[in-house]
Amino acid sequence: MTSGNRKKYIVGNWKMNQTLASINDFFNKLDVAQETCETWLAPQAMHLSLVLDKAWNVSSKFFIGAQNICANANGAFTGENSASSLKDLGGSFTLIGHSERRHIFKENHTLLNEKVKQALENDLTVIFCIGELLEERKAGKTNSVISEQLKEGLKGLSADSFAQDRLIIAYEPVWAIGTGEVATPEQAQDAHEFTRQTLKELGLNAESTPILYGGSVKPSNAEGLLSKPDIDGALVGGASLKGEDFTALAQIASKLLK
Ligand code: PGA
Repeated sequence: MTSGNRKKYIVGNWKMNQTLASINDFFNKLDVAQETCETWLAPQAMHLSLVLDKAWNVSSKFFIGAQNICANANGAFTGENSASSLKDLGGSFTLIGHSERRHIFKENHTLLNEKVKQALENDLTVIFCIGELLEERKAGKTNSVISEQLKEGLKGLSADSFAQDRLIIAYEPVWAIGTGEVATPEQAQDAHEFTRQTLKELGLNAESTPILYGGSVKPSNAEGLLSKPDIDGALVGGASLKGEDFTALAQIASKLLK
């Protein structure tokens, strides 16, 4: 399997972190304007406007998105954030199905599938997150979990549903998220290859769909992961909070493109 001419991505997921002061510090230390990889960032919804403004000052190619959207278009949904307002602000993508949404907020396949459709209706790129729990891996169920999450979450969609670059998959083994225990490049490559094969079986554009790895990625372990043929980038939590670490990750991803 070759990576063809897919791009490399560094996508930061700030989760429920950062303050106005730490966001300023992040941008003061960030130096990615010359990097050739894709640099994307998902701050808290409350920080979206601020981060969009700051990102445009860095580069017109620094894309900002959300960590989650509401499955409904608009209306009486107190506390939710709509895909259309994200688009209206200038956001370009949203995460859907992050493991914290699946496991803490109990979002199920049906809801996630509605969110994917809502994002596409608003011309947003979907970063659809999948990944197994530790007990599922130990029970040898990694592939069946991934396959079910893809089949159910992307139900009713075909290659035509996704305009070019509208679908990205993030494989994030739950046991590696925020734990410091990163998957080995081989474990991640196996899961990514299986994911690509499953996308093909679902009739999606498997070869051109970027598949990112997430789970304790940092500058010291990124190169081994991002060098694998089916790993097209990283979805990064903790190590995306500091401008210098984000920059280091973008440099590694860009170097691998050369
Ligand atoms: P982490 O989080 O890099 O802190 O493990 C990754 C994620 O949840 O997307």
